[in-house]
Amino acid sequence: MNILITGANRGIGLGFVRHYLAGGHHVWASHRDHAGGLSGIENASLHLLRWDVANDAGPVGELPDSIDLLINCAGIYGPGKNGQELQSITPEVMQEVFNVDCIGPLRVVQLLHERMARGGVIANLSSKMGSSADNSSGGTYAYRAAKAGLVIISKSMAVDLATEGVHVLSLHPGWVRTDMTHNTGLIDVTESVAGMADVITRARQYEPGAFVDFAGRVVPY
Ligand SMILES: NC(=O)c1ccc[n+]([C@@H]2O[C@H](COP(=O)([O-])OP(=O)(O)OC[C@H]3O[C@@H](n4cnc5c(N)ncnc54)[C@H](OP(=O)(O)O)[C@@H]3O)[C@@H](O)[C@H]2O)c1
Repeated sequence: MNILITGANRGIGLGFVRHYLAGGHHVWASHRDHAGGLSGIENASLHLLRWDVANDAGPVGELPDSIDLLINCAGIYGPGKNGQELQSITPEVMQEVFNVDCIGPLRVVQLLHERMARGGVIANLSSKMGSSADNSSGGTYAYRAAKAGLVIISKSMAVDLATEGVHVLSLHPGWVRTDMTHNTGLIDVTESVAGMADVITRARQYEPGAFVDFAGRVVPY
């Protein structure tokens, strides 16, 4: 398969890169300023791209004509919990997080959907934090709203791209030990990625636009 992964220089994105290279696939891995963990991988099937999904332009010309799997992994949490409370949240923080976590994947898909192969899959990394059904603790306004918005956008993409034979899912990776969680998660990147890759392999067993966690469970939203 030809696979594009955004936000691939560390964390879950880097885990996806390692997983799919080990499976013999061709991987286009995008990063912002620093190649990070990607620079240590020597594999002729790995192609590095610079892509900041907060900007409208993307390196489309460096990508293959046919993409089988697109994983929108790039994301930010925004300020820590205290900076996202009712008293502290600001329009600027809302806009910054929304621009990366929600509009970012939309930009990528707008630029690339015509290159998606019939039978292809788009997996958008949301979070259970974006599920209203799962929200019992409040707060975290920007991250919750952006990840909820991504689930809604993914559903529209799933409907719109069905005629092109492209299946779209939102994924929840679990609570994973990465920089984003200050390594406080319950599972490691390898377990999260293996679970999500299994869901992606079985993607069409799920409704278009479904929100699915790393263990294959549908997340109510
Ligand atoms: N870890 C968890 O428990 C968890 C739970 C639920 C959902 N998620 C989601 O899973 C995804 C990956 O999370 P992670 O834990 O691996 O996070 P991470 O370790 O903080 O890595 C985030 C990645 O996104 C990239 N990124 C940030 N802003 C970007 C931008 N504007 N353009 C392009 N790339 C950008 C970062 O690149 P730089 O190195 O340049 O900053 C980095 O590669 C995120 O969407 C996150 O919200 C994670």
